[in-house]
This record gives sequence, structure tokens and C-alpha cells, in this order.
Amino acid sequence: MTVKVRSFAKINVGLRIGAAREDGFHELLTVYQTIALHDVIGVSVMRGSGIEIRCDDARVPKDDSNTCYRIVEKTMRALKAKGRVIVEIEKQLPVQGGMGGASSNAVAALVALERALKQSLPAEERLRIVAEVGSDLPLFLVGGTVLGVGRGEQVYPLEDLPAMACVVVTPEVGVSTPKAFAEWDRRVSQRRLKLNSFASARAVEAKLTLGGASDRMGELSRALSAWLGKSYSGAPFGRGRAENPLLALVRAGIKNDFEQVVFPEYPELSKAKRALERAGAKYASLSGSGSTLYGMFASKEAARVAAQKLRHQGWAAQATATLTRKQYWAKFLVSRFSFLVV
Ligand code: C5P
Repeated sequence: MTVKVRSFAKINVGLRIGAAREDGFHELLTVYQTIALHDVIGVSVMRGSGIEIRCDDARVPKDDSNTCYRIVEKTMRALKAKGRVIVEIEKQLPVQGGMGGASSNAVAALVALERALKQSLPAEERLRIVAEVGSDLPLFLVGGTVLGVGRGEQVYPLEDLPAMACVVVTPEVGVSTPKAFAEWDRRVSQRRLKLNSFASARAVEAKLTLGGASDRMGELSRALSAWLGKSYSGAPFGRGRAENPLLALVRAGIKNDFEQVVFPEYPELSKAKRALERAGAKYASLSGSGSTLYGMFASKEAARVAAQKLRHQGWAAQATATLTRKQYWAKFLVSRFSFLVV
């Protein structure tokens, strides 16, 4: 039996980097949003043993460094299942980072494997396994608009917001996430040194992201709470007119901290953000540590025209839309059919 599923991408709507932790990770506060761009993952279980990754794209690893390989290995072990697992990846998403492609592929492979085996892991165990493979895997077990805390692996579903048109730009730049975090730390300690020479230790503590409950994390948290409060109380979002709640969220002034370290290193990415804004985006931002950028648009048509304009300017741009949780799961399964895999 082969189970085929869609592996959707995500964008980050705001991302705050907090304190560096003893385990080498950083505290994060972010809102993940799934979008309609996707790969297709097929999983088959046959007699025998081992794991085989098939993909036409040479940039996708086929060995145990592939996130799908790692998740299948862990899931088979946890389920005490036997068989040879074949994972076929139809790569449609750009391989550039920021959209969680590899993470999404792994979660899709896990869910497809459970269906192929007709067995499933308890929800808590599933979350534990996916978080072991990477910080931005668990969000794909929720879908839609998702709050991410901890190192990004603790996920909470937010209100299922209406879909919104967007344009994704993927400059051909490879940004290393660990390096971006290291650069962030370097800047924080530089600022700490500078402040140390001017101010008291107490002022330093107050200004920097030294603790989990830093000023800057608190700022995003307050913006989110205010937004959620409005959303649940039914108060109008826009100034007098109905506004897409996602747009109301970004208007709260939320930002992606990675822009501060990634843009100076890769000026092309800040140019791409400006190009999105000039093309009419209501809000544009880097996604994750990049190199993907996205812009939110007032309508499907505005996004389509903007993507076309950006492509004429030489940018790799695609018009798409955000995906609600309901749509994410409704569109997840492509097909399930039995045939002999050779
Ligand atoms: O969890 P993931 O594999 O995506 O993380 C890749 C790397 O990014 C980690 O090894 C760590 O260096 C860095 N990271 C971090 N803080 C996070 C998430 C990732 O420092 N919250």
C-alpha cells in the first residue's frame, strides 16, 4: 500500500529570539502559519527491512541525514513495526530555507507511515519524536496558525484564521540557521559590552534578552495577547471595516529578529523585502532565518499581479495563500492505494 500526502510549507509571522540556553538552543516566540505551497510524499511498506528515500532532486539527501529517514526510523522503532519503508519525495517547494520544507516532509512521512501501517502512535509520543528531529516539526502536526514557544517545538493552535493571499520569494541564497543564531549571540554580547561600559549592571539586564521573560519577548507576547483578545471578543480588527485578522496581527508591529542579522550579511534579501513592499504587499518579512521572504496581499489577484511583476524583475516569486487548519487537514491526504512496488 502507498499512502500519498501533501507536505505543506510554513512561514513565520513574527519571530523573537530570546535567551541562549544551556542545551545550545535559544528561547523562541513565533507564530507559524501554514501555506498552500507543498511537496508530495508517498510512503509504502513492503516485506523486508530498511528505509529507502527516493527523490529526483539531487539536493535532497537520500541517507540517514534526511529528516524523513530519521522520523521513519524512530516511528518504526516506537511502533515495533517491521518492513521495508520506501519514502518518495516529489519536490515542488524551493529547497531554500525558511519554509520548513524538510521538517514538513518528515511530519508528512510520519503521518503517511502510520496510515500505511494502520497503526498510530499516541499523540504525546508523536510530538516527542518529531521534536527530537527538529524544532519546527511539531507545528506541522497542528497546521493553520500556530503559536511556537520553547525552542519553537512547543506548539499551541491559535484561532483558525481566514486564508490570506501571499507571495513567496526565494532568492538563491543558503542561510545557515545555526550561524544566524551565533551571529545573534555575537551581537547581544557586543551590546552587553557596550552597555557595560556606560551603564549599571541592572540597566544591562533590563535592556538585553538575557532572561526568558525579556522585554522584547514580552513585547511580542503582549501584541499577540491583545490581538487574541480582540479576536475572541468579536471587536472589529480594522479601523471601522472588516480586516483579515492575520493582517491585524502583523499591524501590531511584530517583526522577525533574524532580519537584523541576516539582512546585513545578505543584502539581496533586504532588497527582496523592499521589492515585495513596492509590489504592494501589506506586510513583508523574512521567514524563519531565510532565505525565503513573503508578502501578504489584499487579494488573490493583487498577489498574482505582484508575483508576475517580481518575476519580471528577476525574483523567484510564487503567488499562494495561507492555509487554515481545516484546509490543511482537508487537503493533507492525496490518495491511498494498494499496488505492488517494484
Ligand atoms: O531544531 P533544529 O534542528 O531546526 O535546529 C538547528 C540548529 O539551530 C540548532 O542546532 C541550534 O544551533 C539552532 N537553534 C537554536 N535555537 C532554536 C532552534 C534552533 O539555537 N530555538
